[in-house]
Amino acid sequence: MPELSDCSGYKYLRDSAYDRETIRHAIRPAISQVDTFKRYPDAEKIKLPTDWTLKEARITPLLQTRRSLRKYEKESVTMRELAFMLWASQGITATSGHYSFRTAPSAGALYPIETYFSANSVEDLQPGLYHFDVENFSLDRLSTTDSAEVVANACLNQNFMAQAAVGFLWSAVIRRSMSKYGNRGMRYILLDAGHICQNLVIAAEATGNGACPIAAFYDDEINELLGLESEEETVIYAAAVGKRVVKQKDNT
Ligand SMILES: Cc1cc2nc3c(=O)[nH]c(=O)nc-3n(C[C@H](O)[C@H](O)[C@H](O)COP(=O)(O)O)c2cc1C
Repeated sequence: MPELSDCSGYKYLRDSAYDRETIRHAIRPAISQVDTFKRYPDAEKIKLPTDWTLKEARITPLLQTRRSLRKYEKESVTMRELAFMLWASQGITATSGHYSFRTAPSAGALYPIETYFSANSVEDLQPGLYHFDVENFSLDRLSTTDSAEVVANACLNQNFMAQAAVGFLWSAVIRRSMSKYGNRGMRYILLDAGHICQNLVIAAEATGNGACPIAAFYDDEINELLGLESEEETVIYAAAVGKRVVKQKDNT
């Protein structure tokens, strides 16, 4: 088995990284666009019902109203909400032998994704950078420097990341998956991150918050901020979470 840095999966990750210099010269790829919908005009169509009344499907309103949210109330996220979002995204729900299974599925139960976040406005939590200790359902405080602006700048200056109450950052410990699956492990890493983010998004909706996934960031800047050795562990996904703006009722 080649070392990580010789794997094409790993090289792909590095080749697709953003930095401030190369992004300035980035040109649209010479790949033509295709339609958003796949159509089978000649296939028999079977209409699906839209009048389901699945009372047990309590998730329906969360899915129906979910939208990527980039504007937030000033209100803080509570520690209980944060804990719930962390549990929903990565919490341990069962153990079997030496496996600890989590809320989100993971290829080979290898769990290559680590959760970090910038606490910008969380009740009873000092602003700063934290790591989610999944095993002990605890937080590791990494820094008490308010990093909201730095994180947003590293996310291609997407300012809403600084206005969010919490800026989640997910890294991949690449070796966890690639030591078993080689190049294919890179696919699994990316898929795992998608599951985790989606769970977080739904948990955010369920707690009166909203989230926006973020994959546009300067890789090395974010890694440096978290003190990650990017060959071993690199940020691959992020999300901003904050209180949903409640529309005022019109009493006229
Ligand atoms: C992989 C991925 C990366 C994304 N990255 C960003 C991002 O960097 N900035 C941003 O504002 N939105 C980002 N989004 C959110 C999309 O723009 C959004 O999901 C899309 O416009 C559809 O809108 P909706 O989420 O409200 O349904 C990302 C979404 C995904 C799935």
